[in-house]
Amino acid sequence: MPTRPTALITGASRGIGRAIALALAPTHDLVLTARTADALAAVARDATTLGSGVRTIPCDLADPAAISTALADISCDVLVNNAGVATLKPFLSMTAEQWHGMVDVNISALFHVTRAVLPGMVERQHGHVINIGSTAGRNTFVGGTCYAGTKHFVMGFSESLMLEVRDSGVKVSVVMPGSVETELFPAGTDTSWMCTPDDIGGAVRQLVDTPPHTLQFIVEVRPLSPKRRRDGTRRG
Ligand SMILES: NC(=O)c1ccc[n+]([C@@H]2O[C@H](COP(=O)([O-])OP(=O)(O)OC[C@H]3O[C@@H](n4cnc5c(N)ncnc54)[C@H](OP(=O)(O)O)[C@@H]3O)[C@@H](O)[C@H]2O)c1
Repeated sequence: MPTRPTALITGASRGIGRAIALALAPTHDLVLTARTADALAAVARDATTLGSGVRTIPCDLADPAAISTALADISCDVLVNNAGVATLKPFLSMTAEQWHGMVDVNISALFHVTRAVLPGMVERQHGHVINIGSTAGRNTFVGGTCYAGTKHFVMGFSESLMLEVRDSGVKVSVVMPGSVETELFPAGTDTSWMCTPDDIGGAVRQLVDTPPHTLQFIVEVRPLSPKRRRDGTRRG
């Protein structure tokens, strides 16, 4: 039987990461990481029913030493850098802890996780790194000094890395979601108009399915309209 390709997905315990895991499960074995072990185990059970072999690795991506230990023996064909945190508040209200919480996960973990698996991809002349950015990676808004800043970083990082490794047969892409109904938003937020996590899982699925000789670099996925619920009715 041919071996299945392997996808490593960060932030896979819920939301967009969970949806990406389930979108790839029919064709890929999965390595799923996040901090919450029981939530990861639940996603693993769902992915297994779709045919995937799954390994879960609970890990705090804000801890570089923990990442390097956790991923030391991981080899993968697809890496989805999805984990992210968003504390949206004006700069003068933000604590240093909140600032570093976003920078550590949204920026520094990109280095540590990618550094752990990219050499193997380059050596095998095959692989796909997919970074989950945001429309906040090319927009600005009040309350976004750090979060939007980190997502602008994702864009610069992704395009530079893409130029560095494409001649090695390794693809780099970035998915920029608009608003998506996940726990990134506070409880009580009207999410009726937002994309669903499965919409972003579908975009990653399409990127993974592009022919070997083509590279789709940016995919932006937005809700059709903030004025319309997903069922098409008008809000407000
Ligand atoms: N929702 C949106 O509207 C939206 C729009 C654009 C872009 N995005 C991006 O999409 C990605 C996923 O967000 P989401 O909406 O699915 O948010 P979410 O539901 O809050 O999920 C975030 C994921 O990241 C993991 N994570 C957070 N901190 C971590 C840490 N220190 N170490 C390891 N894992 C950590 C969480 O797992 P644990 O808590 O179990 O560790 C969880 O699996 C993020 O990069 C976000 O910026 C989201």
